[in-house]
Amino acid sequence: MTDGRGVWITLEGGDGSGKTTQAELLETWLTGAGHAVVRTREPGGSEVGRLIRDIVLHHRGDVAPRAEALLYAADRAHHIATVVRPALGRGDVVIQDRYLDSSVAYQGAGRVLDAAEIRGLSLWATEGALPDLTILLDLDPQTARARLALRQAQGPGDNPFDRLEAEQQEFHERVRDAFLALASAEPDRFLVVDATRPAAELAAAIRERVATLL
Ligand code: TYD
Repeated sequence: MTDGRGVWITLEGGDGSGKTTQAELLETWLTGAGHAVVRTREPGGSEVGRLIRDIVLHHRGDVAPRAEALLYAADRAHHIATVVRPALGRGDVVIQDRYLDSSVAYQGAGRVLDAAEIRGLSLWATEGALPDLTILLDLDPQTARARLALRQAQGPGDNPFDRLEAEQQEFHERVRDAFLALASAEPDRFLVVDATRPAAELAAAIRERVATLL
């Protein structure tokens, strides 16, 4: 981001693509190299955001598509203003799970809202903030589904019944295609990796790219 001295990295990909594992590995590496790291996420990277996250992910029943898009944008506006910009101003490295590309891919995949409108809404909310690097963990939805089923069978963790995770395969195919289209529209911002590769290999590819930003 132009007004900060830090480095802002976002991770994107479908549910079950391994973002959390890669965020952890990257954080460990950066911290070991002496960088101050802020790990955060959307929705829910701030106190207000955690309230919004509860509405968008755990409310039973329909939320009107425009209302849903505005809730993600509200979470984002507060998160960028109160968490991300201050961290970048301090010179920290911000590793963030999901950002506006998730809104374009997920809310756009609902077919009610237009991708350009959603992106415009997010950019208004954040006064135009864009990450230095966005890592897309690309994975076909069948493999992602199988991974999530395994994780659920292995016991406690994230609530496995998030509303969006319960949606249909076709929706997740559209999400994947949307992420890939976003990456090819902005090749300089994105690093696309094949999330079926072993975690250690992915981490090495990510480190190589991140090293160019430090
Ligand atoms: P996340 O907490 O990353 O869940 P997971 O770890 O399972 O990937 O994201 C929760 C859900 O929120 C995910 O299904 C995608 C959705 N989402 C949107 O639909 N729009 C958005 O703008 C964001 C940030 C997330």
